Amino acid sequence: MKLLFTALAAATATLASERHIVTRDYNSTLNTDAFIDGLTKANNGGTFVIPAGVTYTLDKKLDLTFLKDVQLQLDGTIIFTDDIEYWQKNNFYHPFQKSISFWRWGGEDVKIFGSGTIDGNGQAWYDGFSGLEILDPDNTYYRPILFYTENATNLEVQGIKFLNSPCWTTFFVTSKNIVFDNVYMKSASTNASSLPKNTDGFDSYNVDGLTVTNSYIDVGDDCFSPKPNTTNILVRNLTCIGTHGVSMGSIGQYPGTLDYISNALLENITLIGATTGARLKAWAGPNVGYGYMRNITYRDIIVERVDAPIVLDQCYFSVEDAVCREYPSRVNISDVTFENVRGSSSGVNGRVGVDLKCSPGATCEGIHLKGIQLTTPQGEAQTVCENIAGAEAVPCP
Ligand SMILES: *[C@@H]1O[C@H](CO)[C@@H](O)[C@H](O)[C@H]1NC(C)=O
Ligand SMILES: *[C@@H]1O[C@H](CO)[C@@H](O)[C@H](O)[C@H]1NC(C)=O
Ligand SMILES: *[C@@H]1O[C@H](CO)[C@@H](O)[C@H](O)[C@H]1NC(C)=O
Ligand SMILES: *[C@@H]1O[C@H](CO)[C@@H](O)[C@H](O)[C@H]1NC(C)=O
Ligand SMILES: *[C@@H]1O[C@H](CO)[C@@H](O)[C@H](O)[C@H]1NC(C)=O
Ligand SMILES: *[C@@H]1O[C@H](CO)[C@@H](O)[C@H](O)[C@H]1NC(C)=O
Ligand SMILES: *[C@@H]1O[C@H](CO)[C@@H](O)[C@H](O)[C@H]1NC(C)=O
Ligand SMILES: *[C@@H]1O[C@H](CO)[C@@H](O)[C@H](O)[C@H]1NC(C)=O
Repeated sequence: MKLLFTALAAATATLASERHIVTRDYNSTLNTDAFIDGLTKANNGGTFVIPAGVTYTLDKKLDLTFLKDVQLQLDGTIIFTDDIEYWQKNNFYHPFQKSISFWRWGGEDVKIFGSGTIDGNGQAWYDGFSGLEILDPDNTYYRPILFYTENATNLEVQGIKFLNSPCWTTFFVTSKNIVFDNVYMKSASTNASSLPKNTDGFDSYNVDGLTVTNSYIDVGDDCFSPKPNTTNILVRNLTCIGTHGVSMGSIGQYPGTLDYISNALLENITLIGATTGARLKAWAGPNVGYGYMRNITYRDIIVERVDAPIVLDQCYFSVEDAVCREYPSRVNISDVTFENVRGSSSGVNGRVGVDLKCSPGATCEGIHLKGIQLTTPQGEAQTVCENIAGAEAVPCP
């Protein structure tokens, strides 16, 4: 009896792992229902396959938090409609920087892999948002995030292209063990007067375990920028084209809220033509939060024509210097190493290559610079710093 049970269990497991679901109504223009149906049938051990040459056009918000042990083999394309009116009324909302998304991934043990594309169809959004600012408190023109998770555990994405996200390309919320490997992201506008703004590569919030490896990111904002409460971060072998760099934060934005980022290793990253390279950013001002960043290592970073290669900024965004002096940031920063950062700055900041301005209202200690070799068009790069405690390893003038 016991033997039979074991044999049956094994047979079921084998069947489940080989269960491939391919839905057949992909000739219709809109196939949101077929997409949900495919993933639902594959759920609990199967694989939903979208073959090369097949396009799913999604026109309705999708809640995918029911997933458990499922794979999406995406060799074709998933594209979202650009019905701005629909999406601004129908989406998943998260209060952090008033984020909205087309769909919400979640559940456990979810893998998306293949050579296919997820396309945010961003052009209409870029045109519509022209002249606006995401961090403007009066902004009400929200744009969807292309890939959003909430309460996801063990989610892996491999090989997929993410194109033309209307806003952030990814945002992981209250999730654990998120792994992206060998992905390609590009957001570009065909209209010079409406840029693909805020199309960040990677953002996170309350996430433990975030790994990004072997990827190529060409977007109109941060390449990688974990937000509040992200721990155990690994980034390795990343190429960032354009972008606002590989940042920690911003954090400390919301009054009364403790934010932190800890245990991050970011290595072998090439940044070309970015506004900043390796950057830590935290808020100051009369009505902001507090927190810490701890144990952050940037290693083997190559910059080419980057405006500000190494930056520690505790007066983030458009807050006036005088206001930051009056209400300094309360985000403590400790054990941060920038090691083997090489290459060239663009020269827009003169000879400043390393710019570390710590807040007088927080501790800033254990900041190390090792093997920094930066050039500027005006000559050898300089280091500028303020308020670093025990600046043993930082040659502050
Ligand atoms: C889908 O379109 C292709 C090419 O037009 C056609 O050969 C095929 O029969 C269609 N499939 C369905 C399910 O309608
Ligand atoms: C380009 O964007 C601007 C600003 O949104 C808009 O006014 C203009 O119509 C767009 N041009 C084209 C060709 O779409
Ligand atoms: C995520 O988990 C939290 C806490 O259990 C819960 O309040 C929230 O509704 C969940 N979100 C989703 C989308 O299930
Ligand atoms: C680094 O990532 C690139 C893709 O951007 C890939 O082609 C290359 O093989 C990766 N290197 C290693 C050692 O995995
Ligand atoms: C480091 O980055 C370079 C340039 O992207 C890539 O060619 C190389 O494979 C990477 N090496 C490792 C070990 O990731
Ligand atoms: C971060 O975690 C702390 C401690 O658990 C919590 O008090 C705080 O609200 C969290 N911050 C955010 C932005 O959720
Ligand atoms: C610092 O972070 C690294 C991961 O980047 C981790 O391996 C290490 O244990 C952390 N050190 C401490 C003291 O927490
Ligand atoms: C920041 O450091 C100060 C001084 O050591 C300490 O009093 C405060 O509690 C720290 N804040 C956080 C959020 O760790």
